[in-house]
Amino acid sequence: RIAYVNGRYTPHADASVHVEDRGYQFADGVYEVCEVARGNIMDMTRHLDRLDRSLRELRIEWPIARRALEFVMREVVRRNHVENGLVYLQVTRGVAPRDHYFPAAGTQPALVVTAKRSSPAVAARRAAEGVKVITVPENRWERVDIKTVGLLPNVLARQKAREAGAVEAWFIDTDGTVKEGASTNAWIVTADGTLVTRPAEFGILRGITRATVMDVAKKLGLKVEERSFSVDEAKGAKEAFITAATTVVMPVVDIDGASVANGHPGSVTLSLREAFFDIAE
Ligand code: PDD
Repeated sequence: RIAYVNGRYTPHADASVHVEDRGYQFADGVYEVCEVARGNIMDMTRHLDRLDRSLRELRIEWPIARRALEFVMREVVRRNHVENGLVYLQVTRGVAPRDHYFPAAGTQPALVVTAKRSSPAVAARRAAEGVKVITVPENRWERVDIKTVGLLPNVLARQKAREAGAVEAWFIDTDGTVKEGASTNAWIVTADGTLVTRPAEFGILRGITRATVMDVAKKLGLKVEERSFSVDEAKGAKEAFITAATTVVMPVVDIDGASVANGHPGSVTLSLREAFFDIAE
């Protein structure tokens, strides 16, 4: 495998950053994960628009021009022969002697791009079965709308999910409503077939897959409502699912040990998943 690190393509095994990289010391950086399907990077424009927003919110400069980054992402995919998989990119505020203040002007932001393959067959099997989620109290900072590499609460929540025999953990607001998963957005389908997902103005990450699923839903003639929903509503919903570049549309069949409907993936969810691959190119 080949990785891109600050201007160089290097063997993945040797790809490393400096001990004083601010991403390492302060989680002072942002990232994107894009899906690769049939050799194409999906939703590149939306991902780079979101990267631009994350960088601006943290006042980190683009490490290289946007056009150049697009080229590097495609090149890393090509050099790794990824047909189906993921591209990961991370930008940090760069390398500087440890000090909380921003480093001196002119400090070059650090850029890393990697790619890896994933198996569509494994994902399809998982989607056919559906996944379990657990709920955990929201304990992240307020700016989760910025896609930063500060993911410790997400790591702990997901590990807790795994240890409970689940795949994902949903962060729950103090009012009992579902915010989002540790690395996915959360959705339900109501009895009349309406898709419901939390508004992304604040308090959650505005998922790219979330946006594309809305496009797909429109094409399928499905209604989408952006509103909060409670854990109880989700448990009693007709269907539930999660979305992310890593999972695309993944049915949720169990919440905290309670089956969603009959405990099998719902038909609306599965048709969305199928249509996503057909339409979202
Ligand atoms: N996670 N919410 C959170 C907290 C996320 O970390 C992610 C993505 C999403 C879904 O966003 P998108 O549809 O753009 O992937 C929602 C990535 C995949 C990750 O951390 O691996």
